[in-house]
Amino acid sequence: MLFNIPVLLSTATFIASGKCSSHTIAVPSSPKNNSPVVPNDLQSMSIEFAYFPDYAGNKSHPNKFSKNLLQNLKSITGIAPKVRVGGTSQDHATYFPDQEDNVQLIYENPTDDQPIQINYGPTFFESYHTLGQIKFLHGLNMAQNKSTEQLELEAMEACTSIGPQLYLYELGNEFNFAPGTYRSTNYSLLDYSEEWNTKSAIVKSAVQKACPGSFPGFMAPSLVLLDFIANTTWTAEDLYNLGYDEHNLTKELCFHNYMGVNAAPLPPAQFDLQRTLMNHTSIVHNLGLQIKRSENLAYLGLPYTLGELNSIANQGRNGETNVFGDALWLVDFSLWAAAHGIKRLQFHQGLNYRYASWQPIESNGIPPTTRPPYYGQIMVANAIGQSKNTRIVNIPLSEETESAYAIYNGDRLSKLVVTNLRAFNQTTSDRPSREYKFHVPAQHKSARIERLTGPGSDALANITFGGISYDYALKEGKPVQQYSNEKTRIRNGLLTIEVPDSSAVLLTL
Ligand SMILES: *[C@@H]1O[C@H](CO)[C@@H](O)[C@H](O)[C@H]1NC(C)=O
Ligand SMILES: *[C@@H]1O[C@H](CO)[C@@H](O)[C@H](O)[C@H]1NC(C)=O
Ligand SMILES: *[C@@H]1O[C@H](CO)[C@@H](O)[C@H](O)[C@H]1NC(C)=O
Ligand SMILES: *[C@@H]1O[C@H](CO)[C@@H](O)[C@H](O)[C@H]1NC(C)=O
Ligand SMILES: *[C@@H]1O[C@H](CO)[C@@H](O)[C@H](O)[C@H]1NC(C)=O
Ligand SMILES: *[C@@H]1O[C@H](CO)[C@@H](O)[C@H](O)[C@H]1NC(C)=O
Ligand SMILES: *[C@@H]1O[C@H](CO)[C@@H](O)[C@H](O)[C@H]1NC(C)=O
Ligand SMILES: *[C@@H]1O[C@H](CO)[C@@H](O)[C@H](O)[C@H]1NC(C)=O
Repeated sequence: MLFNIPVLLSTATFIASGKCSSHTIAVPSSPKNNSPVVPNDLQSMSIEFAYFPDYAGNKSHPNKFSKNLLQNLKSITGIAPKVRVGGTSQDHATYFPDQEDNVQLIYENPTDDQPIQINYGPTFFESYHTLGQIKFLHGLNMAQNKSTEQLELEAMEACTSIGPQLYLYELGNEFNFAPGTYRSTNYSLLDYSEEWNTKSAIVKSAVQKACPGSFPGFMAPSLVLLDFIANTTWTAEDLYNLGYDEHNLTKELCFHNYMGVNAAPLPPAQFDLQRTLMNHTSIVHNLGLQIKRSENLAYLGLPYTLGELNSIANQGRNGETNVFGDALWLVDFSLWAAAHGIKRLQFHQGLNYRYASWQPIESNGIPPTTRPPYYGQIMVANAIGQSKNTRIVNIPLSEETESAYAIYNGDRLSKLVVTNLRAFNQTTSDRPSREYKFHVPAQHKSARIERLTGPGSDALANITFGGISYDYALKEGKPVQQYSNEKTRIRNGLLTIEVPDSSAVLLTL
């Protein structure tokens, strides 16, 4: 069904409260020489090992909803998102070749977010063949140190069962937490480096026996080095100076990233949404550490990825990471990361996780649902598009609750993105907006307007991008056009656009 564009968006209900960048903003006509090319699969996924069968289903019961949501991203960018299967549960997972069940999850407390023990058998790998032509990054258990055979077995089963869709291995998850948990408290960075080197060589030779041909390689080291999550003296720079990965088996650098952590003391969720997520300054500050590290490690000549990330660690927080404001965070975060050379963002997913982009099956009484963060991923995918030469440049704005990006196809300006990160509660009546005037090269005469919008930053549903809904209830996650899109004329190189609070816009020139 085609509805009219909500009144809100077409008739500028402009309320002059708050500051507004109404001066003309210059857009660079071409990107800087060192602007990195953005890979089309920037928006990718990480799925918790224990919950992968819930997301993907199996041969007899494939999860079509998940397949549709991944396929949507592929239709937009031309390249399917990559899927990493791993996380904390990968280091608690044991492979049993004789087990009939695909997976057995053993919980310490029934309400825990994650099981403490995961037993999986050969049918677990059916889930790698239900989602279409996806390339996988498969997590191996590094924590278990009882048996080398066990490690060989799980690595060999992965290469034979996943086949050509196996993109890379991962050996261990967030091993900076190992001292005092998986290992003795005196377990050092050097111990880690040596253990990883030994075990990665074991994996390589086992895989080369089971699956002759070139060894896929690893993404590594998968550490989370953020002082609000874990204080440690470990650094990635030291790790490589200690001879980590002496045989160069790593194909992609991988670090984990979160904006904050769901742990006491907690400020109100709505407050933290504006303070931590809907805050461009906070995003720049948070990513600064990763960008610096990527520069320090550039000499390794490997792509720098965030192999597991999301908004707030410990599976997110209701009212903050499961609401529309989180989708706006995701857009600003992703574009800033891409503009600074981060090559892939694997947003972490798990059943009932509070930051998940979708709920794949009914669970805890909640039916399958497309969640707000997914719409952020869709917007970023559209901003990148199918060009093999997309470059992104940030356009500095004055407020911490706004951001803008110019997007180029090669040297040619092709798109603009604006986010308005001011929180707006859906229960409030008048929705303020900001007006932007961009000065663009004079040959551009009009722009297509696609908005990322929803009832408010606190909304759980009724989100659209470009007027399209991807909700489960409509067509099992396939796109359904709900509202038509606007177009704007550009007069004398001046593009004027209203952006309501808690929304974002993609302008295609
Ligand atoms: C496949 O999934 C269905 C539905 O979840 C389940 O009943 C069945 O046992 C699974 N098959 C295997 C081999 O795990
Ligand atoms: C793990 O096992 C290997 C081989 O059995 C051994 O050399 C190593 O010291 C062990 N590491 C730890 C931390 O237990
Ligand atoms: C670390 O601790 C273990 C057990 O507590 C002990 O056996 C080992 O000698 C210690 N290693 C070092 C280098 O202190
Ligand atoms: C790490 O140390 C900093 C500075 O002392 C402190 O603010 C932070 O809370 C610590 N983080 C953790 C997870 O303990
Ligand atoms: C690994 O790469 C480094 C830097 O490129 C090189 O110096 C070294 O010889 C390589 N090692 C192996 C075993 O290929
Ligand atoms: C936005 O983040 C910055 C940096 O963390 C912080 O100083 C500022 O107070 C935040 N703004 C709001 C409104 O919380
Ligand atoms: C939104 O509503 C919450 C809860 O009533 C309140 O704490 C918050 O200040 C409101 N935010 C805005 C931007 O009005
Ligand atoms: C979504 O919009 C529909 C129609 O306006 C409304 O009935 C429904 O309550 C909304 N859902 C949520 C969760 O806001």
